[in-house]
Amino acid sequence: MPKTHNPSLLLVRGARQLLTMRGYPGPRRGAALGDLGIVPDGAVLIRDGIIASLGPTRRVENLELARGAREIDASGRVVAPGFVDCHTHLVCGPSRLPDYEMQISGATYPQIAREGGGILSTMRAVREAPIRRLILQAQQVLDWAIRHGSTTLEAKSGYGLDETGERKTLRACHLLDGKPLDIVPTYLGAHAVPPEREGRADEYIRWMCTDFMPKIRRRRLARFVDVNCDGDAFTLDQAARYLTAAKDLGFLLKVHAEQFSHTGATRLAVEMEAVSADHLEYIDKDDIRLIATSPTIATLLPGAVFHFGLDRYPPARALIDAGAAVALATDFNPGSSPTCNMQIILSIACAHMHMTPAEAFVASTINAAHALRCADRVGSIETGKQADLVVFDAPDYREIPYHFGVNLIGLTMKKGVVLFRKEKAPWPED
Ligand code: NIG
Ligand code: FE
Repeated sequence: MPKTHNPSLLLVRGARQLLTMRGYPGPRRGAALGDLGIVPDGAVLIRDGIIASLGPTRRVENLELARGAREIDASGRVVAPGFVDCHTHLVCGPSRLPDYEMQISGATYPQIAREGGGILSTMRAVREAPIRRLILQAQQVLDWAIRHGSTTLEAKSGYGLDETGERKTLRACHLLDGKPLDIVPTYLGAHAVPPEREGRADEYIRWMCTDFMPKIRRRRLARFVDVNCDGDAFTLDQAARYLTAAKDLGFLLKVHAEQFSHTGATRLAVEMEAVSADHLEYIDKDDIRLIATSPTIATLLPGAVFHFGLDRYPPARALIDAGAAVALATDFNPGSSPTCNMQIILSIACAHMHMTPAEAFVASTINAAHALRCADRVGSIETGKQADLVVFDAPDYREIPYHFGVNLIGLTMKKGVVLFRKEKAPWPED
């Protein structure tokens, strides 16, 4: 007699290591940052895309509720929450290959910008592109993200830099949301000064604060507002005015801080109660102490340092040891970090920033979910949360950062729906 299945039930069973990330109410710090909440030989029962139960396979598979569930056999493998990529510039048009070659031959980021590349070259591409093309380009990136295990992504604007371009970008983010990944939109109008306002950054800031940002808020086009506070972008004073206006309008805040130089943007982020300060390559000792004792999450983006061939990585170890809540993300964008593969971000964080594999996993799942204020739904495997899971074709979570550049994803699931499944898994089953 063939078994009859209940189509709303799914049982992922036999995971050699089920990384739950459960058990803490807020962002993880200190020892909690390395606590994966591992259940050996674990199972997850999913009903209608939501986690209904989890625990040792023997217990979960015998639950009355599990009767008739379809099964996914994860024996010998690691099951984890899908990665939450909490800092990306997803809607960004095509690659910047001339920039890449210039940079390889020694040009710096500002030099490339002066030669007609950089953020403004992407701005031209984004302004010219119909929304359909931007969506198609972003879908290609999302397809890669799914294949590499990401199930939620933040997406910043900031390549339109005028009303039409920014609105088009944020509309694209909305149209992409839920199809099938969750996309969290961020307005980054203060990414660079647009060419038509060259030399008039204050005027651009004023326009965003008084005219455009209220419209974005009214139309609910973004949840977060972000500013690029650095030498060739916006000053601390301009960033403060912009963030104050955003906060008054009810936006949550993020800051691109201390990426290429020390500007004081981390202090500003903490003072403004930003949800996260991102990059932090040039953070100093006082900033480390300050952010570590604040609720602001330190989001580290080692992909940008790697891609530029630089050696100044953000001081993850000092931040963690001081008690900071650390998150990791790709910073996917065509200039500084053209990858959406979170696994290689873990590898770089471990090898170059001395994070432990466990800390890197927590930083890119539950802490990243906190950095997007969506930890009530995603980022851990807990009852009541979305069934956003990945199965790694690996018997131990440490294999994932260890095999740098190798995609170990065997299966990616979003809200209980399998989005990607590798045809033949190479690991022998126990
Ligand atoms: O986060 N520094 C600012 N923004 C991006 C790079 C953007 C680009 O080069 O297109 C970043 O690294
Ligand atoms: Fe960025």
